[in-house]
Amino acid sequence: MSLKPEKQYGDYQTPTYFSKKIAQFIKNDLGYVPDTVIEPTCGTGSFIRATNETYDNVRIIGNEINETYVSQAKSIEPRKKNEIEIQNYDYFRLKKAIEVNKTDQLLIIGNPPWVTNSSISAESGDNLPKKSNFKNLSGYDALTGSSNFDISESMIVDLVHKYYMLNPLISMICKTTVAINVFKYMHETNIGMDYFKIERIDALEVFNVSVDACVIYVKLHGDKNTNAIEWLDEENKGRKSGFIGTSFYMNLSESANQIEGETEIEWRQGIKHDAGKIMELKKVDNLTYINGLKEKLTLESERVFPLVKSSHLKEHIITDFKKYVIVTQDMLKQDTNYIEQTSPLLWNYLNDKIDHFAKRKSSIYENSPKFSMFGIGDYTWLPYKVGVSGFYKKPTFSLLINEKPVMLDDTSYFLGFQEYDIAYTIMLVLNSHEVQSFLKQIANLKSKRPYTKKVLSRISIEKSFKKIPYNEMKQIEKRLGLENYLTENHYEVAKQKFTQQQLFLDL
Ligand SMILES: C[S@@+](CC[C@H](N)C(=O)[O-])C[C@H]1O[C@@H](n2cnc3c(N)ncnc32)[C@H](O)[C@@H]1O
Repeated sequence: MSLKPEKQYGDYQTPTYFSKKIAQFIKNDLGYVPDTVIEPTCGTGSFIRATNETYDNVRIIGNEINETYVSQAKSIEPRKKNEIEIQNYDYFRLKKAIEVNKTDQLLIIGNPPWVTNSSISAESGDNLPKKSNFKNLSGYDALTGSSNFDISESMIVDLVHKYYMLNPLISMICKTTVAINVFKYMHETNIGMDYFKIERIDALEVFNVSVDACVIYVKLHGDKNTNAIEWLDEENKGRKSGFIGTSFYMNLSESANQIEGETEIEWRQGIKHDAGKIMELKKVDNLTYINGLKEKLTLESERVFPLVKSSHLKEHIITDFKKYVIVTQDMLKQDTNYIEQTSPLLWNYLNDKIDHFAKRKSSIYENSPKFSMFGIGDYTWLPYKVGVSGFYKKPTFSLLINEKPVMLDDTSYFLGFQEYDIAYTIMLVLNSHEVQSFLKQIANLKSKRPYTKKVLSRISIEKSFKKIPYNEMKQIEKRLGLENYLTENHYEVAKQKFTQQQLFLDL
């Protein structure tokens, strides 16, 4: 079955008023005056007309697959020393780039076909990039991550490759997803650019189709690399999208950047023991526990502490604990023989299960005292902790309260405090929109553990306080459904603690 031309060739001719608006913007707002213009799929010549009318003394080269359109485009009269050449090729079968003087200011402009490769091949069309060509664009497959791509995307990426040596300005109408993919591609392949601007358009009004579309203005520039997309349309004006590290963020908000820093106290990871069935217990009463082998045990409670696992960190204040954990040491590498004296029932239990400890694979347990654990230090014994799971896309920070210090598992992270009021206030700060949106922007949400010590450590609490006044903290408290507890004094005291000088003295 062959396709209707409109479908196979993604044919939506640009109204001339619109192409003129784009050409005018390039001349007047971007101040770009080309010697040569290339329109790779010029249709009936909307952009040929617009650039012919906007610029003088310019060479305009159009190409188009459809012969009827070619003859229409050929009928455009060049004005004021302009030259117009219209070619009739299938873009994907052009053997080499349209030749341009190396010293020319080049403008590549147009509106490539609006169609995906799969919709063409599914209905046996042949308007596709030659496979060999497209796949040679290194890293491209990895970026798009799928075999379905927009023809316009392959065309724009191909144009970037063919002409980047000439540092052209590329301006194309395309889907917004295509625009973002092109930006990502250029960023990841280190193709330098002065700017990458996107203006969202109302495609229903201009083309009578309901598509999220835009115009891109990309100025290539040697090895200069910009990190961000600038949005031009009214709705998104001022917004920037781009990369932080290797992650792409749709909204690099200003406030987010304003809290970037280094957490003033150290984020700690929970405890690691690799013997869950033996060490993690359910409590029946103060002396009776059930282990992961479903055995009922009588143990002294001194070395048994409440435990929260990643999956429990869902409430903002946690006072009920489903699990408990045996903690064999007060500090790293501490000899555990003391347990025999202080907690003989526990000592017997651990020795009974010594095989389980012997089977622990991690090399960290080699040459360590019997029943050793990791992730233990002074910080383990702080009475108030604010914890977060490393696993969830939305990070909920929970204040953990019990008469004994609460332990976290090694998939969670926490800050520890001596004073309840400070811990409570910091829990509110960490659950604020400011911190939450910052974290979402810097974390790689696709990874299994989006929130690591490295990610969390980028939150400056001092800077967060500057962004969140007392009134807003009261609103956070309300939004989290907590009792009316925070006072202005709590807020000020906590804020003071996180100013640089105070930290050294107090924490
Ligand atoms: C979305 S329309 C835009 C036309 C014109 N650029 C404009 O702005 O009015 C896409 C154009 O690409 C042409 N086209 C589609 N596939 C092509 C190919 N492989 N080589 C050259 N032109 C192609 C279509 O015939 C159509 O005129």
